[in-house]
Amino acid sequence: DQVVPFRGAHQAGIITPAQDRMHFVALDVVTKDPRELRELLMAWTGAAERMVAGAEAAPGGVIGGGPHKAPADTGEAFDLDASNLTITIGYGPALFDGRFGLAGRKPSPLRELPGFVGDDLDPARSGGDLCIQACANDPQVAVHAVRNLVRLGFGTVSVRWSQLGFGRTSATTRTQTTPRNLFGFKDGTANIRAEDTEALDRHVWVQPADVTGSAAWLAGGSYLVARRIRMHVEVWDRSTLQEQQDVIGRDKGEGAPLGQQSELDPVDFDAKGADGRPAIPMDAHVRLAHESRLGGIRILRRGYNFTDGSDGLGHLDAGLFFVAFMRDPHEQFVPMQRALAARDALSEYIEHTGSGLFACPPGLDDGDDWGRQLF
Ligand code: HEM
Repeated sequence: DQVVPFRGAHQAGIITPAQDRMHFVALDVVTKDPRELRELLMAWTGAAERMVAGAEAAPGGVIGGGPHKAPADTGEAFDLDASNLTITIGYGPALFDGRFGLAGRKPSPLRELPGFVGDDLDPARSGGDLCIQACANDPQVAVHAVRNLVRLGFGTVSVRWSQLGFGRTSATTRTQTTPRNLFGFKDGTANIRAEDTEALDRHVWVQPADVTGSAAWLAGGSYLVARRIRMHVEVWDRSTLQEQQDVIGRDKGEGAPLGQQSELDPVDFDAKGADGRPAIPMDAHVRLAHESRLGGIRILRRGYNFTDGSDGLGHLDAGLFFVAFMRDPHEQFVPMQRALAARDALSEYIEHTGSGLFACPPGLDDGDDWGRQLF
């Protein structure tokens, strides 16, 4: 394990090789005082930079404060190393509603997402003024990071919802192997990777020309779309292998597009099966999500598997915590999800139960902090 650099042109946790674990939290700002928010963002920067380096949230935080003070670091990561921890911050549309004098700084694509066919969104798992995505190879390191940032924000922010993810469902560099999701399929094969710099500029990083005037702070940043997607694993597990493969459009063992041999073979939507029908069915997930069907749209997927106990009706409450980064959510996620919601064969087996949209600022230069960057 290594220390992932905290500062740079872009925030870590977007094209950083996807770690194994995630703790994501959405928060609401409870203070009315913009100064308190700005000071918290400054304090968060310091604590985040320390924790990412494998240190305590505050110097001497675990035991150095002496016996008569509440420790400034909660301690559960005291003996653990940095575990590739990344902490990524994002701002929701509501943060720019005028409460903090930020209305003029709102980038225009930071508008709430529309509803989609089949959505079953729980307001208690959706929205938020801010988000923090902590990813690490050790779950305790990710949870510790979120917990200590939340603790620093007591009285200024409160937790709206949070999500733990236990297994990555994407590869974000060419050297990473493709993991599997809870339907047992390789997930993240056709993703944008850290090495694809041209595609990143085109599809992931907000370009200077996209955000002019007082929204220019977002240049070099990215929009984060989070969707908590329940997967009805019991129904899936009763369907045949062929049905499952037809729904996705790839084979289960190798992850090859149907009609091809190996995982990285290009998809051929014209290929025919032995019965003369399209090898990749017309309503297969990869056909509908493919850039060739969407006017060239792509996104960078960086989601995680979750299981949150049971639903009280004898089923696992399990699924995919879908996280994707993009240059404009209304030009990319919205048309893609519209196409999927309307026709995707996968829709029968899944349900979107939570949603969030956040603008993640660019990386920090030396000496800069999140408060100064935003205000
Ligand atoms: C591809 C699963 C939701 C966008 C795939 C693949 C699998 C998969 C197995 C093929 C391997 C790969 O290239 O990664 C799932 C499951 C989902 C889900 C189980 C829900 C629980 C979504 C959503 C979106 C999306 C909500 C976007 C709105 C894509 C895209 C591809 C893809 C863009 C690549 C298509 C290509 O270019 O070949 N997904 N997915 N997926 N998925 Fe999903």
